[in-house]
Amino acid sequence: MNELQAYLDTHRERFLSELLDLLRIPSISADPQHAADVRRMAEATAEHLRRAGVDNVSVIPTDGHPIVYGEKQVDPAAPTVLVYGHYDVQPPDPLELWDSPPFEPVVKPTDLHPQGAIFARGACDDKGQFFMHVKAFEAMLRTNSLPCNVKFMIEGEEEVGSKHLEAFCQQNRDLLACDVVLISDTSIIDNETPSLTVGLRGLAYLEVEVIGPNRDLHSGVYGGTVANPANVLCQMIASLHDADGRITIEGFYDDVQTVSAEERQGLNAAPFDEAAYMNDLGVRALWGEKGYTPVERTGIRPSLDVNGIWGGYTGEGAKTVLPSKASAKISMRLVPDQKPEKIERLFRLHFEKIAPPYVRVNVKALHGGLPVVVPTDSVEYRSAEKAMELAFGKRPLPQRGGGSIPIVAMFQQVLNAHSILMGFGLDADNIHSPNEHYGLFNFYKGIETIPHFYRLYAEMKTTRL
Ligand code: BES
Ligand code: MN
Ligand code: MN
Repeated sequence: MNELQAYLDTHRERFLSELLDLLRIPSISADPQHAADVRRMAEATAEHLRRAGVDNVSVIPTDGHPIVYGEKQVDPAAPTVLVYGHYDVQPPDPLELWDSPPFEPVVKPTDLHPQGAIFARGACDDKGQFFMHVKAFEAMLRTNSLPCNVKFMIEGEEEVGSKHLEAFCQQNRDLLACDVVLISDTSIIDNETPSLTVGLRGLAYLEVEVIGPNRDLHSGVYGGTVANPANVLCQMIASLHDADGRITIEGFYDDVQTVSAEERQGLNAAPFDEAAYMNDLGVRALWGEKGYTPVERTGIRPSLDVNGIWGGYTGEGAKTVLPSKASAKISMRLVPDQKPEKIERLFRLHFEKIAPPYVRVNVKALHGGLPVVVPTDSVEYRSAEKAMELAFGKRPLPQRGGGSIPIVAMFQQVLNAHSILMGFGLDADNIHSPNEHYGLFNFYKGIETIPHFYRLYAEMKTTRL
C-alpha cells in the first residue's frame, strides 16, 4: 500500500488538472445542440482509460449517446469489478445564478469544504466521481497492485434515463459479466461521517396537459365563464396530496414495503441537524408525510413533485389572456416494491378521473426506473465498509439515498450482480443546481478508498471460495 500511497501523493496535482479539463466539456445529454460535446466527452473519457492502461477501450455508438467501455484482465481466478459511471451532465441553467461559468471550473473553499471545492457542472455528478475510479485504477496498475479484473462502463445518458444502456446490457451479458458493480454517484452524510448508500428510489416521470377552449381567449371577455386550464391544473395538482402530506392517488401505497422499526431506528441514528439543514436551504420549516422523519421521507417513503409548470403568458409585464392549455412535468420517487409502469397507470387513471368536465387531459409517460435495495450481508458490502473504515478512520453508516440511478436495478436483474453505491459527494454539493461543486477532500479520499476496496474484496472473495 505504501508504494500506492506514494504514487497518489506524487500525482495529486495532475489528477486534479486532468479532471478540470474534463469539466470544461459541456456534455449535456438532454440538449441536442450539445451532441458533439457529448461525443467529445466520450472520446476524452476513452482516451483517459487508454492512458491509464485499460485494454480494449472503445466508444460504442448507440441510438443515443455513446457508451465508453474498457477492461483489464489480470487473473482469470480473480474477481471482476464492473465500474459504472456517467460522463453526461444536467443542463446548467439558470446560468445567471452561477458565481462562475459552469464549464470553466474554479477551485475555492466553502464552509463544508475548507480545503477547497471544484465548482463546475458535473464536478460531483458524476465526472469528479467516475474519474476517481480511473485514477485509482491507474495508481494500482502502475504500482503492480491491481488485485481484480476490471471493466469500465461509463455512459452518456444517465441524466436522461439511460434509455439505450438497458438494451446494451441485455445484448452484452458476457462482455459485462462481473462479480460486483462499483458505482460512485451518490453521497456521504458529511466529511466526518462516511456512509454507504444501501437504497435508491425509483422514478416515474410524466408530463400532463390540461386543455380547455380551442384557442387562447381574452380573459375579460371570457373570464368567469370558461374554465381556465391553468387554474384547473393547479387545483388538480394541489389535490394530489392530502393535509397529512400523503399522495391521494388510489392504490399508490399498495406496494410500499413497510420498513422494520429496527431499520428505521438505524436510519435515524445517522447525524441529522434539522436546523442546519433548514438554514442551508433557507426555509423556516420542513414539510412532508406525517409520521416520518426527514431522513425517512427521502429514504423509505415515496414522493410526488412538480418539476416544471407552464401555460399562458410568462413574458415581461402583463397580458390578459385565458390560455387554452396548461402543462406540468411531474415526477414520483418510488420505493420498494413500487413499479414505475403500475404507478404511471394509477396516475393516469386518477388524473383522468379527477379532471372536471370542462377540460380534457393528456398524460404522457416520459421515463421511469425501479427502486433498489443493496443487501448489507454480502462480501462486497463488507469489503466496501472496511475500505471506507480504513480511509476515513470510521465505519460508514448505511444510508438510503433519495435519488435514482435507473440502471442499477437492471444490473441486478440482467448481470445478476449486486451494486456497491460508494459515492463521496455531499447532499449540499448542489448537483443539478447552480454552483455544483465537489470537495477536493472528497475527490482524493475517494481515490484513496477505491484501492482498499479492490484489495479487501479480492481477499475476502478468494478466502470464501
Ligand atoms: N447521481 C444522481 C443520483 C443520486 C444523487 C442518487 C444523490 C443518490 C444521491 C443521478 O445522476 C441522477 O441525478 N439521477 C436522476 C435520474 C433520472 C434523470 C432518470 C435523478 O435522480 O433525478
Ligand atoms: Mn449521477
Ligand atoms: Mn444526476
